[in-house]
Amino acid sequence: MNFTQIKKLISLKRRSGAGIQTVDEFKELAKKRIPNAIWDFIEGGAGTEQAIQANRKSLESVLFQPKYLVDVSQRNTSAQIFGRPIKTPIILSPAGIATLAHPLGEIAVARAAAKADAIFCLSTGSGLSIEQVAEVSDGRLWFQLYLWKSQEVIDSLINRAKKAGYEALIITVDVPVVGKRERDLRNGMSLPVTIRPGQYFHYLRKPRWIAGVLKNPAITFGNLTDVTSGDDASSIGEYVNKELNDPSKTWDDVARIRSAWEGPLLIKGIMNPSDARKAEQVGANGIIVSNHGGRQFSSVPGVATIFPEIKKVVSKNTELFLDGGIRRGEDIVKAHALGATAACSGRSWFWALAADGEQGVNRILEILEKEVEDTLALIGEPKLTDVGPQNLFST
Ligand SMILES: Cc1cc2nc3c(=O)[nH]c(=O)nc-3n(C[C@H](O)[C@H](O)[C@H](O)COP(=O)(O)O)c2cc1C
Repeated sequence: MNFTQIKKLISLKRRSGAGIQTVDEFKELAKKRIPNAIWDFIEGGAGTEQAIQANRKSLESVLFQPKYLVDVSQRNTSAQIFGRPIKTPIILSPAGIATLAHPLGEIAVARAAAKADAIFCLSTGSGLSIEQVAEVSDGRLWFQLYLWKSQEVIDSLINRAKKAGYEALIITVDVPVVGKRERDLRNGMSLPVTIRPGQYFHYLRKPRWIAGVLKNPAITFGNLTDVTSGDDASSIGEYVNKELNDPSKTWDDVARIRSAWEGPLLIKGIMNPSDARKAEQVGANGIIVSNHGGRQFSSVPGVATIFPEIKKVVSKNTELFLDGGIRRGEDIVKAHALGATAACSGRSWFWALAADGEQGVNRILEILEKEVEDTLALIGEPKLTDVGPQNLFST
């Protein structure tokens, strides 16, 4: 072989599009970059964790029936949500304490969502505050509320979200108590993060993460700095159950909040058609069908299994969202085929943030949008908003 032949074979230019191609690759990269206890906090679920599997299996069992020789040269990936389009058809589900994954936490995620024209939901339990996030984002922001003990805290969070310009309010109803997240209990995941005997080695193997923590304010609930107290060595779940949670809350409390919030109101964590009807009766505009990503209770069906039952009972005016197990553009299109207004995803952005900060979240949103676009071509349906049961294979 001479030099000319070798030159033909070798290029110094990188492959275009090389690099991470899937959510799962970000998951693997995140695992390498963050300490085990933080990884477990993101990845883990309640009890046997079978509900995490159930979400994936339920989506995998949804199949398309492709049509060909349809003009799919122009594809439109926009979803229409509360009367307005978003270009990247994904809602970034609320997930607490993103500053555990990366020092810029929710700020990085909100910026990436705004750039992609997606919607970001800020959790009550976020690492950064309602105001800090609103300040950096010119995109659509929703605020998620837990019905915690103090009415004063609830009212103040609602007012802050209103004042900061959040478009919609989500009330998460599936946490009468925090699920038994055994990994967190074993790891002693507490706030502020404390490295305990037996864990030094795991944390020290992630010097970049440690440096990020040392250079930044202590990781805690950004919206609740005045109501949360220091390290009592209990896990986050135990702390929330003891100090913040209120298992006595009912639909009456939701009705009270409905009258205090003028914008769109969504109820998250609905797994039962009769609860979906109650959500409509109290005046919710949207329902997020969700088992909290399997983090609350393991003996529940996957979301794509229960979704059609809920779809059957709600009125056309109520927007329905599918949350849990979304890992690919195909899954997003499946959610639309089942009748969802949009799909929501938690772990995919959390892993991307842990792996590569804001850039990682930018990339994951790009990947998902491209996968949606390709899926539309492959099923023969040029517009995402036209996808429906007619695109599904049924036996
Ligand atoms: C690390 C983490 C923290 C979460 N925190 C919250 C929260 O504060 N409020 C909430 O309503 N849901 C929370 N969730 C659940 C998500 O909103 C969403 O329901 C779930 O992630 C969907 O499943 P997926 O991760 O498979 O997409 C959290 C999820 C994760 C992974």
